[in-house]
This record gives sequence, C-alpha cells and structure tokens, in this order.
Amino acid sequence: MSDNAVLNRCVTLVDDEPAALDVLMRSARAFHFECQTASNAEDALELLEKNPTPVVVTDLSMPGLGGVWLVHEIRRRWPQTAVIVVTVGTDDDALAQCMGAGVQHYFLKPVHVDEFHHALQSTWYSQLICRENQRQKRHLEWIVHKQTHKLQHTFFSAITSLVRTLEARDPYSSGHSLRVRKYAMRLAQYIGLDEHSKKRLSLAAKLHDIGKVGLAEGILNKPTKLTEGEFDLVKEHPVIGERILRPIIRNRVVLSAIRSHHERFDGGGYPDNLSGEKIPFLARMITIADSYDALTSSRAYRSAIKQEDALTILQDGQGSQFDPHLIQPFLRMMRERKPR
Ligand SMILES: [Fe+2]
Ligand SMILES: [Fe+2]
Repeated sequence: MSDNAVLNRCVTLVDDEPAALDVLMRSARAFHFECQTASNAEDALELLEKNPTPVVVTDLSMPGLGGVWLVHEIRRRWPQTAVIVVTVGTDDDALAQCMGAGVQHYFLKPVHVDEFHHALQSTWYSQLICRENQRQKRHLEWIVHKQTHKLQHTFFSAITSLVRTLEARDPYSSGHSLRVRKYAMRLAQYIGLDEHSKKRLSLAAKLHDIGKVGLAEGILNKPTKLTEGEFDLVKEHPVIGERILRPIIRNRVVLSAIRSHHERFDGGGYPDNLSGEKIPFLARMITIADSYDALTSSRAYRSAIKQEDALTILQDGQGSQFDPHLIQPFLRMMRERKPR
C-alpha cells in the first residue's frame, strides 16, 4: 500500500445487506471518510486491488467466500490494512478466527453510530501513527545507510593513500597494487566473473600488499638477494595484511584473498601451504596479476621483462605456481591485447 493510500481518509465497507451498508456509509461519510462499498468478499477484494484503503469494515456472514476469507486475504496481501468486523453475533467460530487473524475491532449488529465512529476514527489514527513510524524508520535507515557509506568511503580513501605512501617508499613498486588490480579486473571481465565477486576482487587486489607496511625500507629496496631471515619477514606480509584489515573489512572472501595471494597451486607457497582449489579463487587470480606485474616492472636488481617473455614465464608456471584454468585465459587475454 502506498503512503498516500494510508494517509487518505478512505474506508472500504463490505456488507451484503443494503440497509446495513447504507448505515455504515452514512456514518463514515458524516465523519468525513471517503467510502467505497462492496456487497460480497470477492468484489471487495477486487476493489481493494484497484484502490487499497487503510481501513476495511466487513460483515462476516455474506454469500460467496464470505467475511472470514476476506479478512485472511487482506491479512495476506496487505498486512498493514486495519480490519473492523461487524457480525450478527451468531457465528462465534468465525469471529474467533477473525480475531485470531488480527482484526482491530468487532461490532455486533445493529451497529451504534457513535461506537462505530469511535472505532473507525481510532483505527484510522493508529494506522496514521503506524505509517508515520514506518516512514521515520525508513528515514533513519536511510541516514544510517548514508553515514555508513560515507564512513566506508573515508576508510577506503585512507587505505588507498596508505597503499600509495607504502609503495612510494619503494620506487620499484610504485603503482604496483593499482596495476595488480587492473590486471586482475581485466581477467575477471574476460572470464565473466559476477559483479559481486568483481567488487571483492577489486578491493582485495588493491590491498593485497598492505601487510608490507611494517617492512623496513632496507628490505623493500634491497638490490641483492634477501637473506633467509629477511625473506621470513617478507613472508609475513599476507598474514599481517589480513590482521590489519580484519577489524574493518568483515568480508571473509576479501580477507582470505589477501591472506592467500602468495599460495602456489602445487602447495609450495605461503602462509598456509594451501594447494589447488583449496586456495581461494580470488587469491588465485591475484597471484597471476601480481606475478605478471612483478615481472614486467623494473626491480632494484633487474630491469623490466618484456610482455611476451613474462607471459612465457607465467605459462611455464601453470599447474605449479598458477591455476591452469586461470592462467590460460590470462595468457589469451594478454596476447589479444597490444603490448603496453
Ligand atoms: Fe604480496
Ligand atoms: Fe604484490
């Protein structure tokens, strides 16, 4: 039911006795309610489908499917609509069923105008208050949603600058995370990954090396081979990254992609020695993008490798370092594009 329908002072009156219907209608109109009327439950339902009203007043005993059926249909289709029942009082079971279905008031015939007016007015007001509460609730939810969105935006901006600052310490890795995201997203597009997973991949790829924040510059920029101890420190960055982001990013898929981006398909990677499909899918995609960017970027100890040579190295790593089902589309995709 729309907001306007609830706020309108409209009532649907249903009774098979013309005289009784007339009394209800005149009484409602006397108190400035607009009325629509029906003489049976089926017609009433048809009317309500075209023009729902916040309040329905119905007789119970009518030809056809009857008032009890109507009450249940209204409850099912328009749970917010208030129902007032009028009855001759001989059908206790039907009345009990209606009360069980949540009707707001009931009257025994003949209806007393004052009593009817009071019930109609108070039911309409309670509908109005209920609608207003719901409107305010929706407004509050919208404000909370907006604020959460703002906070998330602020957080992601802060994280992005943190990643930039981190990479600026090492001229060889400057822009690495954004390039990894670019390659991972191209692959995602190429294999037809769903939009939901693409969003998660984008975030995980951008933040995959955030755990390097604690590494000394000397290690990041070292032009010679790392010692075993230094390499052990470097190997901690996926776990540190996951730990830094865990309080802020609740999504397990994103966190596990960051944690597992250095796992190898043959189980020889780190930190958990996962293998094959036990490695999270998004992590397997990031591994490929990460390795491609590492190969095609200059390092302190070597210059950048040409695209085709880098792709050959990746091809050699299929099944050992990389998921063969992902490396193949990646190679095809990169070869279809012109070299940078
Ligand atoms: Fe990494
Ligand atoms: Fe990386």
